[in-house]
This record gives sequence, C-alpha cells and structure tokens, in this order.
Amino acid sequence: MNSDSDLQIAGDILEVPHLLQPPREHPATVAEFAGLARSLAADRSQWEHLVAYDATSRWYHRLRTGPGYEVWLLSWVPGQGSGPHDHGRSSGVLTVLDGVLTERTERGTRVLAAGSQRVFAPGYVHDVVNDALEPAVSLHIYYPGLTEMPMHTPRCESRTAPGPVTA
Ligand SMILES: [Fe+2]
Repeated sequence: MNSDSDLQIAGDILEVPHLLQPPREHPATVAEFAGLARSLAADRSQWEHLVAYDATSRWYHRLRTGPGYEVWLLSWVPGQGSGPHDHGRSSGVLTVLDGVLTERTERGTRVLAAGSQRVFAPGYVHDVVNDALEPAVSLHIYYPGLTEMPMHTPRCESRTAPGPVTA
C-alpha cells in the first residue's frame, strides 16, 4: 500500500481483534452456501464413497445438516429425471459433481457439466434430468432445509388436461 492510498492501517491490525470477524462455522449467505458446495465438490473424499446408483428410484443421501440448511447428495443414472418441481420455501444451490445434467425451465434448457452451479430462490421451478450416457452426481444445498418439493404438471400436459395452472 503506498502512502497515497485512501485506506491505511496504522499499527498492528492483530492488536484490534474486535475488528476481525472470526471465520463462520456455518454458511449463512448465498455466496457462502455456493462456496461450501464448491469446497465439497473439490474434496471427493467427502462424498465419493457414499454415492450409489439406483436404476429403479432416485437415490439421495443427506450429507450434512447445519443451522438452517441441509446438504444432499443425489445420483442420476442415464435417463433419470426429477420431473418439474419447486422447492417450497427453500432457496438452493445445485452443483454438479460428476457427469452432466440438463436443467429445463420455462426460460429454456441449460446443460450443466461437472462444476456448474445454479443458485435459485423460493418458487423456482425446474426439471432436472440426466440426458447423458454416463451417470451423474449432484450436490444440493437447501436453506432452509427442504420440507416439501411440490411437483408441477409438465407444460405440454397442462394444456390438454384440466387442473391447477402451474408455472
Ligand atoms: Fe430442484
């Protein structure tokens, strides 16, 4: 820092511990949840041995919980999909750990390769599917923890079938 800087620290910053924020034990902001997901994605020893693939039903495992959030591990064999759904009151961070997932929303289709992240707010509707030829693994952080996952009628069916309008 040169002497023309607007910000200068006089003395030793370590002498003013009340100005230093201790690192938080638990994430609390969107950026921190996304950061937690990235650090888990980078450390395969945290989750790789837990993954199972189940062709008959969706496989999921609650990896950890904390105050106000839950972390889930999901596997997707080729062809498996969630169906259109939202996440109730929860916000979330979806991170692809392995393979490739396709996310469909009203706005279009997005291909999510390993490392891709999607952050979504309450009410966000999407359909996630493994359209690839290889299995996929994803990490889902929900805050608050997921209490419901309402399913939505696919658009093409809602035009012909009576029932509640979904968006
Ligand atoms: Fe979802």
